[in-house]
Amino acid sequence: MNILDSINARRSIKKFTERPVSREEIEQLLNAACQAPNHRLTEPWRFYVLGPRARHAYGEALGHRKAKRIDDPEAGKAVIQKVAETHESLPAMVAVAVTVDENPEIREEDFAAAFMGIQNLSLAAQSLGLGTHIKTGAIMDDPAARSVVGLPDGERIVATINIGEPEVLPDGPARQPATQFTTWVE
Ligand SMILES: Cc1cc2nc3c(=O)[nH]c(=O)nc-3n(C[C@H](O)[C@H](O)[C@H](O)COP(=O)(O)O)c2cc1C
Repeated sequence: MNILDSINARRSIKKFTERPVSREEIEQLLNAACQAPNHRLTEPWRFYVLGPRARHAYGEALGHRKAKRIDDPEAGKAVIQKVAETHESLPAMVAVAVTVDENPEIREEDFAAAFMGIQNLSLAAQSLGLGTHIKTGAIMDDPAARSVVGLPDGERIVATINIGEPEVLPDGPARQPATQFTTWVE
C-alpha cells in the first residue's frame, strides 16, 4: 500500500483479534516512531510497553476513575473489573511519554514531535497488518497510572496506544475536504 492509501485507510481500531503482537513487531513500530521529525533532536519520546499485569493495573486505575461517577458500590466494582480485564486482554499497549523541558517552547515542540512519532507508529502498524487506537485523558496524570507505568519525575504520559490485529476495519468518521479549511494567501 502506498503512503497516501495508507493514510486514507487508517482508522482507530477498537476491537482486536487474539493474534499476539510480537516484541519484534513492537520494536519495529517504536523505531518508526523514533524517525519522526524533531526540532533540536531532543528525542523527547519515552515508550513504556505494558505487559498483561501492567495493562490490568492501568485498567484498574482507569476503572477507579470511572467508578467515582457511579453511586452503587457494587456497580462501581464491576466497572473497575471490566476495565481492568479489557486492558489486560489487549494484544499490546504502549504508553508514550515525553520529557518535560523547562523551556515552554521546547516543551511544545517536543509534544508535537511525540505525536508525529505516534502517527509514524500508527502507519507503520498498518504496514504490518496491525491497527492502533490512541487514548488520552486525565488518567495520564493520575498518580496511580504514573506508578503503574513506572514513570520517573520529569516525564509525562501524552497518550496510550492500543495495538493489535483489527477484528473489523471500521469506516470511521468522514472528514470534510481540506478546501473547507484552506485559505490560499497570495
Ligand atoms: C490526540 C488524540 C487523542 C485521542 N484520545 C482518544 C481517547 O481518549 N479515546 C478514544 O476513544 N479515542 C481517542 N482518540 C481517537 C479519536 O477519537 C479518533 O482518531 C477519531 O474518532 C477519528 O477516528 P479515526 O481515527 O478512526 O479516523 C484520540 C486521537 C488523538 C489524535
